[in-house]
Amino acid sequence: MPKTREMLFVGFFLLAAAVAHSEICTDLPEDISAEAREYSQHVQGISKRQPSSYPKEPFISGTVPPGFLWGTSTAAYQVEGGWNTDGKGESIWDHYAHRSGRTPWGDTATDSYHKYATDVQLGADMGMTAYRFSISWPRLLPDGTLAGGVNQAGVDYYNKLIDELIAHKMEPLVTMYHWDLPQALQTKYGGWTNESMVDYFNDYATLCYQKFGDRVKRWATFNEPWSFIVPGYGLGVSPPQMLFGMRRRQYEVAHVVIKAHARAWHTYNDTFRAQQGGEVGIVLGAPWGQPRNTSDPRDVQAADNFEQFFLGWFANPIYGNGDYPDAMKQMINGDGTEKPRLPVFTEAEKAYVRGAADFAGLNMYSAYLIYASNHTLPLDFISAVIPDLKGAKDTEDPTWPHGSSSSTVLSYVVPWNIREQLRYFSEKYSHKVPFYITETGISEKEQFPPNMNDTWRQCYYMLYVDEAIRAIKLDGRDVRGFFAWTLMDNIEWGSGHSVRLGLHYTNFSDPNLTRTPRVSAKLYGDIARSGGFPEGAAHSKHTQEWWDWCHTMEPYKGTGTGAGWYPGMH
Ligand code: NOJ
Repeated sequence: MPKTREMLFVGFFLLAAAVAHSEICTDLPEDISAEAREYSQHVQGISKRQPSSYPKEPFISGTVPPGFLWGTSTAAYQVEGGWNTDGKGESIWDHYAHRSGRTPWGDTATDSYHKYATDVQLGADMGMTAYRFSISWPRLLPDGTLAGGVNQAGVDYYNKLIDELIAHKMEPLVTMYHWDLPQALQTKYGGWTNESMVDYFNDYATLCYQKFGDRVKRWATFNEPWSFIVPGYGLGVSPPQMLFGMRRRQYEVAHVVIKAHARAWHTYNDTFRAQQGGEVGIVLGAPWGQPRNTSDPRDVQAADNFEQFFLGWFANPIYGNGDYPDAMKQMINGDGTEKPRLPVFTEAEKAYVRGAADFAGLNMYSAYLIYASNHTLPLDFISAVIPDLKGAKDTEDPTWPHGSSSSTVLSYVVPWNIREQLRYFSEKYSHKVPFYITETGISEKEQFPPNMNDTWRQCYYMLYVDEAIRAIKLDGRDVRGFFAWTLMDNIEWGSGHSVRLGLHYTNFSDPNLTRTPRVSAKLYGDIARSGGFPEGAAHSKHTQEWWDWCHTMEPYKGTGTGAGWYPGMH
């Protein structure tokens, strides 16, 4: 045997032995925290899952409680267009799109600034009872400040949209910040790096409550703070593209954002709640971190740390003890000998932030498989994007349904992440609040010609809605709404319309930007109208028939030809 092959063989043998050892070693090492030990035992107790295998839950029929909200979600920059129409100010996304020389798709987007009534009708046709949209801060306050003046045309636009929704029996759930900061605040103050943003955001939130709070009863302050802070102020890849200093600045920005959220909640609580009787919460991105081997406490600990660096960064202060997770404090600030990079909340701030939310909005799409490792290679999402998170690496389980690289479907389909994340959140945080699934959805690359029979999306919503019902029925979770991302293909940020997530297809080549329902729109509508999957309903039977197939790779190939035909579509 040549030398190198021999070495490879020995190496492989050692690796195999190490893997075998790690799989049979179930004794918990000493250096594992009590919490991870308990969590590991708990996970083993509730889950029959084998490492790296896809748990196929059985279909269950069942419906959601009365008053449950069925909706779709959008965001201002992604749909409105009219970027400088009727007095709107420039946002950091407008600025970025124009300056970077990219095709500024957001200038017109899906033109919902003019076509809002069409959009409301699409939702009504699906039997939706809610719509989640965001307000563009610079449309209301062109330079971001009250001193700079309120744009009455902006107020009129949102009044019309809200009234149209209510006339069609849809409740608005309104996000105040879905990433489109007024450029003027960026230029003058450095955006969210500046503590004064807490006041400016509070002025803007107050204006929203004053103008629309008589009809809007559910407010989300921020959408996915992680997703604009890390790429925008850490990695510098999206607006405002602040390069360098990621290991400090992104934490300082998050500190300001958390305080701004808390301030807006307190303002509502103190000044508006008695009269308006609504709720204010925040929407957090919540990718699930699944331990690769639930019997190995090191993987469990690594996955827990992953959760802390995503969800816990914001959830722990607001829904937990008012402070950052211990794992973050230890890994970022170390032994305290250097100036802390993760800022420190005062006791008064902790008390102010803790419990400042009436609900939790969770965006739950997919999952990562997390394992413990101190190696640099292979390069993974964690090492590239959150290098402060030590000892954990991520991968995906190849058995999770997904499209192939030659197909168009881009996501891993992991419906049980919903139930796991809701369990984790409920057990971890002491401030008990209702949940809204504020976003979930599946993407595909733009197709020519477009294919309305989106089997991948039909399967996705069958599996994910059924999982939400399972969380309510089997685990008793207080889930009050399900919002599909998204109503129609829109501007997927830097990807423009090359990535599609819509229940409706948008024809961007047509000056009218026509929207056409995909088959998934009909299916999701049937689910919503009947409150889920009632026993005997045609779509429940259909879902039951498709169930096994939806757990294979087949529907996600992106061609949509394999599955036949969903009743009612022509
Ligand atoms: C999360 C964001 O909130 C939304 O703006 C985005 O389009 C979807 N995820 C899909 O990527």
